[in-house]
Amino acid sequence: MIKARIKAESSKANLISYDQTYKTFNWPDVEKEFSWHRTGKINIVHEAVDLRAMEPQKRGRKALIFEKNGQIEEFSYLDLKERSCQWANLLAQYGFETGDRFFIFLPPCPEIYLAILACARLGVLICPVFSTVNFDELAGRLNNAQPRGILTHPDLVEMIPVEAMGSVQYLFLTEGPLPGVFSNEVLVEGVVQHMPKEFTTIWLPADAPLYINYTSGSTGPPKGVVHTHGDMAGIFISGKYVLDLNEETVLWVDADPAWVTGLICGTFAPWLCGSTSLVQGDTFEAYNWYWTLEKHHVSVWYTTPRTIRRLMEAGENLPGRYDLSGLRHIASVGAPLVPDLFYWAKQHLGRSPHDTWWMTETGMICLANFPSMDIKPGSMGRPVPGIEAAILDDHGKPMPPMSLGDLALRVEWPGMMSGLWQDEDRYEDYFRFKGWFLTGDIAIKDDEGYYYHQGRNDDLLKAGGDKVIGPYEIEQVLCMHPAVAEAAVISKGTEPDKGVSFLKAFITINKGFTPSTRLNHEIKAFLKASLSSDIIVKEISILEKLPKTRSGKLLRRVLRAGELGLPGGRTLDMKD
Ligand code: WT7
Repeated sequence: MIKARIKAESSKANLISYDQTYKTFNWPDVEKEFSWHRTGKINIVHEAVDLRAMEPQKRGRKALIFEKNGQIEEFSYLDLKERSCQWANLLAQYGFETGDRFFIFLPPCPEIYLAILACARLGVLICPVFSTVNFDELAGRLNNAQPRGILTHPDLVEMIPVEAMGSVQYLFLTEGPLPGVFSNEVLVEGVVQHMPKEFTTIWLPADAPLYINYTSGSTGPPKGVVHTHGDMAGIFISGKYVLDLNEETVLWVDADPAWVTGLICGTFAPWLCGSTSLVQGDTFEAYNWYWTLEKHHVSVWYTTPRTIRRLMEAGENLPGRYDLSGLRHIASVGAPLVPDLFYWAKQHLGRSPHDTWWMTETGMICLANFPSMDIKPGSMGRPVPGIEAAILDDHGKPMPPMSLGDLALRVEWPGMMSGLWQDEDRYEDYFRFKGWFLTGDIAIKDDEGYYYHQGRNDDLLKAGGDKVIGPYEIEQVLCMHPAVAEAAVISKGTEPDKGVSFLKAFITINKGFTPSTRLNHEIKAFLKASLSSDIIVKEISILEKLPKTRSGKLLRRVLRAGELGLPGGRTLDMKD
């Protein structure tokens, strides 16, 4: 753990004093900010879009900017309202009703956002999937959710497994010509524009489902995480306090809308705060990322360690060529924001990146570094107001500071998943300890309440005696060696008689270094000198790249499976 402390960047943030707000915060007060508190009529679209669209001074403000291949499309709050009503009318015409499921299987494009809003208006469950999923992944999700419709593009139709289409009555295509593969294809382009711009939004109970998002986190087969319209209080607080959004903000979330970060922070979070959401549909190129920040005067940027690493690899000369002066807040999510990335960004982008932590299951950002709070590099920050976190031992008892244990959140908060679609057993698993939601992550809390991620529960390693450690600690030390770019440490099992894990490290190396037995020995010696004597890394393997999920999470289980010849080790070459 690094002792450094970086002074807070802003005292003018929405959250002025963390300690005070944390103490006095309560959720019923947040709910008072929504019109349904007075009217009893609940629908997230009404709060996020329609209320602003009804106000003459606000309706013309930009709600969404979409850019791809240099083409820019802009939507005001009024545009979003009217066009999503047209989409809702289209869906209603085809018989879609509250409770139906609707798959959105597309790469980033404006239609995704209109469809999301239309579904929410109707109470139809939004199910976005990455356009890069493979046949089996899509089949698994379709069989689980049994949607009544899918929205996709002709180029993706051949990816859809016929056997899993049983429940699908209509296959909507954003543009023509219709591929003619399925008998139930419906063209949206040219039709939806003629639908009425008014639609009577369906009022729902707060626990009415809003979306299902499939996540494997970093372990196990995918789960269909269900969230409700009532999440809006948690989404709003994430936007207001963590992303520090206001009506002047241009927020860029550079995550795919099929990932909960893009789905929630690219839509409802900014719209509930009256901000503009920018979506860049191009695939990553360093120069284009900087140019996007400059061109759209992005004020808040929510990104990932993977993107910061790619920018770092593209060189430190690049950022100086762009005007990033509009950027007032950078936040990161999804994987550890390791200190080398933190310091690089701070130095070359002119702002400290603020690490944040949450999960698809939590529905809102739960731990964060706030603009008005000092940062301890390597820490995910402190619990968001309204969230109580703890480190639990094996019996579900909160542990004192500086202990390694299970990261847990006190139930419940608005945003907590309401279920796993068709998977009650695994849902119960999260609540094994009464009153707590178990995240599956292992972490340490320091004496000021800052949290440090140490890996996933099933990545735990046994050192000498009863000592248990997270792989992250060793990976951090490995990364301090000048040759090592990234590292993953796994256990190959327990060493006979010794009761300690057989540790193996996988690394990628920096430009300018060549793999050799000598380098391996050198790194092992470096580890020996830097780690306590009961932690011994026996093997080191150099890889071209480490296996990661689409959202950039390290897949240690894939390395473990590959090493031990178990199923699941073949995803080493998983696509983006
Ligand atoms: C898992 C959840 C909802 C967006 C986040 C990803 C890992 C998340 C951090 C962080 C280290 C992190 C955890 C978590 N994770 N943020 N700041 N530092 N690890 O959602 O795809 O559901 O994944 O991502 O392991 O459990 P997700």
